[in-house]
Amino acid sequence: MKHLFNPAVEEIPQAMSIRFNQMVYERKRAGQDVIVLSLGEAFFDIPMFDFKALDFVKGYHYSESQGIPELRERIANFYHRQYGVPVNSKSEILISAGSKPLIFMSMLCVLQPGEEVVVHEPCWLSYPEQARLCGARTRFIPYDVDIQDFLKFITPRTRMVVLNNPNNPAGRIYPAEGIRQLTELCADRGIYLMVDEAYSDFVLDDAFQSVGKFSPGKEFIIIINSLSKNMGISGWRIGYTIGHPEFIQALLKVNQHVITCASTILLMYCAKYFDEILSYTLPQARAVVEKRARVAEMMKGVGLECLSGGSTFYFFVSLGDYPGTSFDFATDLLGRYGISVVPGFAYGKSTDRFIRVSIGTESEERILYALKKIKGMIVETKASGAVFTTEQNQEADDSSGPDERQGQAEIETTLKETTAGKKQKSKRTEKVRAPLP
Ligand SMILES: Cc1ncc(COP(=O)(O)O)c(C=O)c1O
Repeated sequence: MKHLFNPAVEEIPQAMSIRFNQMVYERKRAGQDVIVLSLGEAFFDIPMFDFKALDFVKGYHYSESQGIPELRERIANFYHRQYGVPVNSKSEILISAGSKPLIFMSMLCVLQPGEEVVVHEPCWLSYPEQARLCGARTRFIPYDVDIQDFLKFITPRTRMVVLNNPNNPAGRIYPAEGIRQLTELCADRGIYLMVDEAYSDFVLDDAFQSVGKFSPGKEFIIIINSLSKNMGISGWRIGYTIGHPEFIQALLKVNQHVITCASTILLMYCAKYFDEILSYTLPQARAVVEKRARVAEMMKGVGLECLSGGSTFYFFVSLGDYPGTSFDFATDLLGRYGISVVPGFAYGKSTDRFIRVSIGTESEERILYALKKIKGMIVETKASGAVFTTEQNQEADDSSGPDERQGQAEIETTLKETTAGKKQKSKRTEKVRAPLP
């Protein structure tokens, strides 16, 4: 008998970064060396603090669904100290099992089927899929539009704007004045502005401004953050949301039904050693951004272009006039050279001419080697006259589906055709929106 699933689940693709990282895990398990430029984290050196000092019996059990008060307090203090955002640890923060489910649960709190979420490309790949699971549609703002011009993309159906600041995958930091204006614009219209600040410590100066600074009352703002990137603790699955007390109460109900609580013992550990951990991780986050600046010079030297950005550990690298899709490129790069990147099409509607390169886990020597191979593959493939057969109509109109992006199935077809080595007449219809800024 045929299995019947929710059509929204049938429609969403796998998370492309995780899919490529899965291939990396498999290759590594088979003993192969892979230059990993696909992983969404930077590896920090963090010592192991004393687990035995924790109340283990307490740790074996469920804990408060809003997150244990000690850790809420540490995070609230941190947000005030580090970003100048006052946070009431009793009413304005909720901790759960990673920011990913918190983003989804926040969408569930706000969105109704048929409503719209507005995101700026290149956008973190789970926003549109999570919105789709809520029955909402995504409206993509092309990457070359400034934050001051977002108003043009707001419609009567818009219920939420999602911003990732600093941004994965380009490393862009949004200007403070733009965020202030957007905060006002959204509050005036009763639209929630969700700002995912997961990379807020990967900055060199004070260019990053939390959205919380522009809305101390937190009316219609939702701040997302986590310990995964900033503190290098992705595997323990601890994230948090800061927002208006009424919103936190709504989120708490969903969290009670979906997660219950994050791992109690790990919350206890993070609460006890929060400031010690930070004393190790904050300088390392800064060092990663300094490394990013050196890699940006390498990119120039090799002749690769990328979207502008100076934070995080990501680059969104242009494929120039490489004749295939970003999926073709990433697949071929892994197959030929054992270098893993994430195809750009996963990050928006106008971003298939890019790949995401993450420099958080490899040495500069290996990164330089990989960049040369990337450049070489772009040039050689173009020179070889290879033709790909992608049918990627990215100009799909609003009525064509729950969001404005092409289907995964079409991309998969391309993979089969290209790996079979067939050369066919190009049926390519996609357009690149604008030259690189
Ligand atoms: C922008 C952004 N937000 C959220 C997440 C999810 O992080 P976590 O669920 O580990 O907190 C990621 C992970 O890749 C991310 O890049």
